Amino acid sequence: MNILIQLAYLLASILFIVGIKMLGKTKDARRGNLYSALAMFVAILATLAQVEMISLVDIFICILIGSAIGAFIANRVEMTQMPEMVALFNGFGGLASLSVVFADYWLNTQIYSYSLDSITGTSVALGIFIGGITFTGSMIAFLKLNGRISGNAITFSGQHLLNLVLFLATIVFAVVGMLDQAEPMYLYILIGLSLLLGILTVIPIGGADMPVVISLLNSYSGMAACMTGFVLNNNVLIISGALVGASGIILTKIMCKAMNRSLVNVLLGGFGQTAVVKGGEEEQIVVREVGVEEAAMLFDSASSVIIVPGYGMAVAQAQHIMNELSEQCEKRNIDFRFAIHPVAGRMPGHMNVLLAEANISYDKMVEMDQINDDFANTDLVLVVGANDVVNPAARTNPNSPIYGMPILNADKARTVIVCKRSMGKGYAGIENELFGYPNCLMLFGDAKQTITKVVAELKEI
Ligand code: TAP
Repeated sequence: MNILIQLAYLLASILFIVGIKMLGKTKDARRGNLYSALAMFVAILATLAQVEMISLVDIFICILIGSAIGAFIANRVEMTQMPEMVALFNGFGGLASLSVVFADYWLNTQIYSYSLDSITGTSVALGIFIGGITFTGSMIAFLKLNGRISGNAITFSGQHLLNLVLFLATIVFAVVGMLDQAEPMYLYILIGLSLLLGILTVIPIGGADMPVVISLLNSYSGMAACMTGFVLNNNVLIISGALVGASGIILTKIMCKAMNRSLVNVLLGGFGQTAVVKGGEEEQIVVREVGVEEAAMLFDSASSVIIVPGYGMAVAQAQHIMNELSEQCEKRNIDFRFAIHPVAGRMPGHMNVLLAEANISYDKMVEMDQINDDFANTDLVLVVGANDVVNPAARTNPNSPIYGMPILNADKARTVIVCKRSMGKGYAGIENELFGYPNCLMLFGDAKQTITKVVAELKEI
């Protein structure tokens, strides 16, 4: 039986590795997801086959309750709330790891009066530390993303020093707790400190820098699961946790590059603080409006078009109409592509997922580095619900909180149409000088409704 279980774990690990590798390419991503789900199924079956301490009936009741809650939430959540959902999942992953490692510690040291060996002890301490930070850090990210607390950086003097002192205290309590395993008080304090550090390291991160935090927390949740694997001596948990941890770090590096921040800055926390603009300091931007008919005529006469999708496209659920716009352009032999900024939307890959859902072919979605030089030779750029990712202040204004962040060069095109509902700001909370540029025209309205009208006009021309 044991050999069968180990073989099942091996199969699950291989499926996880293949699955995650396939997630690296958009066209294989769906299959990769399926392989990973299959891996999880095999791993759960193998784990259930060795359950000894509680009855399978109890486990199935818990699975039913969890699945019902999950299905209820998944049914209710809007596509635009997915980033918050991901933050919640990460957080609960961290909490689960913390709970499991602590339960294992408790069972061995308090009930059986054993003592943990150094590898298990270190893994327990790390599992509590990383799991605790992941849980409360993700909860803060969740609250920031759904607007229940301000998305801006929350800072106070001595913040870094306090974080450093708390971090050193966690090391002290982790070491003492493992040296004196019979006394659980040290680990209670370690749990408290880790939960507090999760809050304190995420609150100072705000504005446009949240993508980095989200991918980092994602990585932390994997590392916490990996520690749980060491504590339980479960290879598949070690491998899958390490895969999530490593891919989260890779994603964090990609996000850092996209935001032009260093990883050290991220790890220390407290970066990306939004500049405070005093009353009256903001310059009034004078814009030129364009109507639906005129916008359709601009499309009709263009020979190259780039669409820049952003968070507003997700809000409006305008991805499907983009497909029809693409068909209209293809009919006219217009060179038509989507330019994808790595932090567009509210979660990594947000735009790719939405456009793929609308059956837009993957070769039409071009990453920022590949397309940025082409804007200067493009007749028309349509910015659909994007704002921060095309804000030239990132290049021109050293005082801007997004200064240094690479942006899509939409402003370099011959004509830019920006489709959004108002002069509302983006996630970073700053004005966008592009809207006042002489080559920029504002097409005000909800993206789905407005682009639907443009497509209808194009069908008439
Ligand atoms: P944003 O800068 O957030 O701008 C979105 C724009 O969409 C808003 O200015 C809004 O203007 C418009 N909008 C909202 N609803 C709309 C609708 N129904 N129809 C048309 N327009 C609508 O978006 P972005 O350019 O994609 O940039 C993403 C930002 O989020 C960056 O600052 C990024 O750092 C941050 N962020 C990203 C992530 C990840 S991982 N991608 C995570 C957290 C934060 P109106 O209100 O005027 O319509």
